[in-house]
Amino acid sequence: MKIDHLILLVSSLSMLTQAADKLGFVFELVRHGARAPQKAQKDQFMVPEGMLTASGQRQRYLMGSLNKQRYIDIGLLDDTYNPAQIYIQSTNFFRTIQSSYAELIGIYPPSQKTKLNDGEKQSLKSGKGMPKLKIRNQGKTVDPGQDPMEGFQYIPVFNYQTPDESDDLMTGGCKLIDEADAYLFPRNDTYEPVADYIMPVLRKPIQVAYGLTDDQAWGLSYPQLYDYSDSQLAEDKEGIPRRYSYSAEEWFYMRNTQKWALSLTFPQEYKKIFATKIMRNPLMNMHNRMNEINDGDKTRDSLRYFIYSAHDLQIANILEWLHPVGHDFVDVTYGSSIFFELWYDTDCVNSLRDESCFKVKIIHNGMPLKLSTCLDANWYTRGSYDQICTYTDFRAHTTNFGYSGMPLHEKCAETFTPPSME
Ligand SMILES: *[C@@H]1O[C@H](CO)[C@@H](O)[C@H](O)[C@H]1NC(C)=O
Repeated sequence: MKIDHLILLVSSLSMLTQAADKLGFVFELVRHGARAPQKAQKDQFMVPEGMLTASGQRQRYLMGSLNKQRYIDIGLLDDTYNPAQIYIQSTNFFRTIQSSYAELIGIYPPSQKTKLNDGEKQSLKSGKGMPKLKIRNQGKTVDPGQDPMEGFQYIPVFNYQTPDESDDLMTGGCKLIDEADAYLFPRNDTYEPVADYIMPVLRKPIQVAYGLTDDQAWGLSYPQLYDYSDSQLAEDKEGIPRRYSYSAEEWFYMRNTQKWALSLTFPQEYKKIFATKIMRNPLMNMHNRMNEINDGDKTRDSLRYFIYSAHDLQIANILEWLHPVGHDFVDVTYGSSIFFELWYDTDCVNSLRDESCFKVKIIHNGMPLKLSTCLDANWYTRGSYDQICTYTDFRAHTTNFGYSGMPLHEKCAETFTPPSME
């Protein structure tokens, strides 16, 4: 409750200071909602392993409702679905695709307007309005009056079904980092920097919670611990009573185990490549939108809301790669999000028509992120305490931290060499 109030307060304060500004473009990177565990015990779930649960679906639906208020009700997007304005790409998993649809139902809720009228229903029933297909038991199968999707807006969610180098969301779109991840993820030594302090805290609780023998408990590896913590967190989200009465410290590390399993598997250079690839299309579209606004913003039919529906993996690595000032995270919870919002001053655009009129606000789970490049430039060159990035500084930051070697498709085509064999 307290947290809700705080978020409301913070967002209404920022609305006040942004009153003269207008929102031009949004990039949303978001994790799927709550799901069943990937491995370990899953007997308590009504969906198969790794699948989105009903509460997970609800999480993203509610997020969509909030995004409708934030982005449609203020006029960034049209009230009714305009396919030119929104692009949503998901990874090729049922939980991320279903999450995308759930969020879209929140953004464009079912309406009376799109319901079929009686004449249209009759035309479908009689077969006249149907595509030229043979349908068995047509009278029974086709009953437009009973369509549970009636009133819903159909919106495509794009995803690559097989690994493809233009798929920037999945590691499979970059052979080099995919191989590095496959090699590093299952290895004990990948987690050496944290296993020494996390394992001793969690070994006993996990043993009791999951009924492990002493041998199993002593033989527990970090990748196994991660599986148990994944299962325990999934159960917790569904309101299933905890298997053990964890202390605050134990629960902290139960959550924190995830962060290292996601980020230590992408050492410095690989994180750069992965993050640069994830960000390139959204950033290019943000830039195009800025040019379009400076050019007089002549059409409503252009892309202004770009959504990547992904996993904890992408969020954790983008967060670490951004190096936000004074901002840490314990884990990447279900439905976690990072928003990159492009704002502009309309008076400035009308007179100057250039990049200096634009700012970028970055928000992680409702918390504003600060970037060193922006803070430094605001203070040292403009004498301002402003914590929001100018568009130019934001670009400088992502370029400085980004991968800048050979073209990405060439880099990604390289073969991974394990460190010990170099
Ligand atoms: C990983 O660590 C566990 C527990 O210490 C051990 O049993 C296992 O053999 C290790 N695996 C490798 C490949 O070293």
